[in-house]
Amino acid sequence: MGVLSGKKILLGISAGIAAYKTPILVRLLKSKGAEVKIVITPSAKDFVTPLTLSTLSNNPVYSNFSEQLQDNPVWNDHVALGKWADLFLIAPATTNTISAMVHAKCNNLLIATYLSCTCKVYIAPAMDLDMYAHPANQKNLRELNCIGKKVLPVGEGFLASGLHGKGRMLDPEEIIRHISEDLKADLPLYGKKVLVTAGPTYEPIDPVRFIGNYSSGKMGFALAEEALQLGANVILISGPTTLEASPDINRNNVMTAEQMYKLALEHFSEVDIAIASAAVADFKPREIDLKKIKKEEGIQSIELENTLDILAQLGKLKQKQFLVGFALETENEKTNAFKKIKSKNLDAIVLNSLNDPGAGFSVDSNKVTYIDKNETITPFELKSKILVAKDIFSQILAQNA
Ligand code: CTP
Repeated sequence: MGVLSGKKILLGISAGIAAYKTPILVRLLKSKGAEVKIVITPSAKDFVTPLTLSTLSNNPVYSNFSEQLQDNPVWNDHVALGKWADLFLIAPATTNTISAMVHAKCNNLLIATYLSCTCKVYIAPAMDLDMYAHPANQKNLRELNCIGKKVLPVGEGFLASGLHGKGRMLDPEEIIRHISEDLKADLPLYGKKVLVTAGPTYEPIDPVRFIGNYSSGKMGFALAEEALQLGANVILISGPTTLEASPDINRNNVMTAEQMYKLALEHFSEVDIAIASAAVADFKPREIDLKKIKKEEGIQSIELENTLDILAQLGKLKQKQFLVGFALETENEKTNAFKKIKSKNLDAIVLNSLNDPGAGFSVDSNKVTYIDKNETITPFELKSKILVAKDIFSQILAQNA
């Protein structure tokens, strides 16, 4: 899920030839999971049809202050439209529209909605090169910038006049990239790197058998997705699982504890937050048979040795990083959790108890208690792992503020 997912976006279209690009813009916004409503100036309808836009947006397209519905005039409430939006994107924004915005010249529904809305406003100018460069237009753009409106750059290239220069509306993909980057900058983990270990590890006995555990990786993947939603750059080191992660997550697949250890240490110095949610196998066979052990050969015992403790090593190397471990205890839960915070030099530990039905391995829900290094204990109700991940990050953000 990207930063535009679930966002209510109001698209304002004014009368420039670049309006022909707006159906693609609507498509892309919808494909990112946004809900789109459109307000169009009456003359922009010469460039793009409301039918195309309403079909692609799945919403009515507004252009007049009122319209006739079953013989009765109905008011298109620009105030409600402005309040509905999480963000208002005006694309293309012509010189005339930009000037009207600056001077509060409320001569159409688009400007009335702009003047009533209190959300973030993005402006994608589109005009011929000399109009764009004209001092009056540049002054207007600066004024919009000064009052906190986000004026996007223009593209350079072939213009409708046949001239070549600066003034093209950005392509829909570029508009979306600019808005996404700007929205991310407001997120609490923007510019931060988060490392998450997830899933089980498999410790081979021979080429077909291994020592492993029931971990599904769901908790770790939920944490990685939540970190992404909060604006972080996410490095996920995952043991074997069938789960999929968002393409924006830097996912690294490993099999064994040793491989996970190597990768975690490689990345640790560059991260701000590390969360060890993997159910790393504690033991591995001392010897790995290179060929499959045949049944007839029999096997009396497997000699085991400890795997490397990734979390403990991260605790030793810790400098500025905020380090969170997980603990799964069956008895003396809190006392053991306190001990683990100290022995592994953690900032916090997430305690999940196998004693709670609906919590633990494989299932979609979990019931955790967050304990910080000052031994402040915050218990949470049983809930989906996605919501548990939100709880954990709200604690990390509160402690790490
Ligand atoms: N962990 C790790 N590397 C290991 C073993 C565990 O990074 N080789 C991490 C887990 O990801 C988890 C935490 O250590 O965050 C808790 O491990 P756990 O197995 O509960 O505790 P241990 O320290 O191994 O001690 P014990 O099994 O005795 O409870």
